[in-house]
Amino acid sequence: MAAESSRDGWWVGAVGYEIYVRSFQDSNGDGIGDLPGITSRLDYLAWLGIDALWMTPFFPSPGFDHGYDVSDYLDVDPIHGTLDDFDDLVEAAHGLGLKVIVDVVPNHTSSQHRWFVDALEGKDSPYRDYYVWRAPGPDGEPPNNWVSHFGGPAWTLDQASGEYYCHLFLPEQPDLNWDNEAVRREFDDILRFWLDRGADGFRIDVAHGLVKASDFADNPQLRPLRFDMSTREVWESFVHQHDVDQDLTVGVYRRWNEIAEPYGAILLGELGVPEPHRVARYTRESKALHAAFYLKPVHLVWEPDVLLSTLRAMHEADPDGIAWVADNHDAGRSASRYGGGARGARRSLAVMTLMTGLGGTPFLYQGQELGLEDGRVHPDDLEDPMAVRNVNTIGRDGARSAMPWSAAPGNGFTSGTPWLAAADRSESETVEIQRKDPHSELNRHRQLVTVRRSNPDLWQAPAEWIDVAGEEAALILRGSVAVAANLAAHDLTFDLPEATWSVEFSSAQPPPLPGATSVVVPAETALILSRT
Ligand code: BGC
Repeated sequence: MAAESSRDGWWVGAVGYEIYVRSFQDSNGDGIGDLPGITSRLDYLAWLGIDALWMTPFFPSPGFDHGYDVSDYLDVDPIHGTLDDFDDLVEAAHGLGLKVIVDVVPNHTSSQHRWFVDALEGKDSPYRDYYVWRAPGPDGEPPNNWVSHFGGPAWTLDQASGEYYCHLFLPEQPDLNWDNEAVRREFDDILRFWLDRGADGFRIDVAHGLVKASDFADNPQLRPLRFDMSTREVWESFVHQHDVDQDLTVGVYRRWNEIAEPYGAILLGELGVPEPHRVARYTRESKALHAAFYLKPVHLVWEPDVLLSTLRAMHEADPDGIAWVADNHDAGRSASRYGGGARGARRSLAVMTLMTGLGGTPFLYQGQELGLEDGRVHPDDLEDPMAVRNVNTIGRDGARSAMPWSAAPGNGFTSGTPWLAAADRSESETVEIQRKDPHSELNRHRQLVTVRRSNPDLWQAPAEWIDVAGEEAALILRGSVAVAANLAAHDLTFDLPEATWSVEFSSAQPPPLPGATSVVVPAETALILSRT
């Protein structure tokens, strides 16, 4: 059972950290983050107390989707460094006790990958069947109604052959054909290549993608499309019955699990599937993925009841297999989504505190530990293809501006011009200043990570989730600890089992003093309590 094996790895009890490679640290002044830059900041990550870092793709790429369009899976893009830089990074990380997770992109390649370039030579190309081709509909239209995440149909016509190829993202990101055993073998080799170089596992991009339904039927449509819809709204206007989340995809990860297991490596899938029981298919009920990013919370604004019911439903479907995230590089930062300012930051830490008590593996996204709001990017400077190619879509650049290390020009990220132009961050948003202030967001997040580490019951003990009747609040009892999350706008009394309780962590200051059978939790605050 996967349930057993996923409880065994180095990730059990770990806290992860996502690095958006382009924007973390530039070492050579070209304005783009790189691997030596990350290596130079590993001390910071070790100080923060995290256990594992996930780096977004650093492979050669023409950059239409900033690295998620890979043109060579077995190398490092010169803008990010070299294979030797990767080896140095892994060695330094391991020396500090940090694990390194590589982002593998199996759903699609770049259109400039040699496989696709060859496939375009014609139907006889040995690589033709590496991709998904279909004949046009009767009037020359796309073969079915599937849409791309990035706007428009999921099909582009190859004029030369008269066939359409499938792309769930950009036309420059053709989807691979996972029915083809040769594709499966290529990825077996890709995984082994990085594992042999010391990677401790993989974040799997669009892990719910890969296999398509063999009938290529239309997806059921829920509502008519309008021109003023964002790409996300268009995507959500369909039931994705035939294009993603096919049972055979779970089988791909069972195969990968056999490859990863001898290395003790994690398979951590990005599961863009909203239904918890479907996510659990990949983690809990099969020897497939060890963990999954559940993405719904990353897109939620401050609606405490929705947030709580979303977390509860996923927690119930798989209490141990989720990598909990409130932030990542694909959505606005939680401090902004939750209303901005000091209140947004306070709410963000409250949610992270709650996630820390949910078992699984919580992840911070770079800058979240500083309480950062979205970076301010002028509309003329947008870089994200989602925003550039679609008028009604804001895009993801707000979360992708450079990490503010110091108040120096370029915020200590680069001595050159950052690849993504954004307003400089204020001093109080920087690592340099926050590190010196024991009450800063940075030091509070660090304390939270420490509390998690020193209270194994937060992930080991069986959890009982208790809704506080009629309130936007939840109490999680697990062994010697309890997490009391009051997301309501007023203070709230939580009943506790009788014990001597102390507050290990409070997302807002000052911490309340618990009684033997209850604690008053301030508005929009989460506590971690322990009992003796
Ligand atoms: C990544 C995105 C990327 C997409 C296509 C994801 O879900 O996180 O940043 O654009 O996959 O590869």
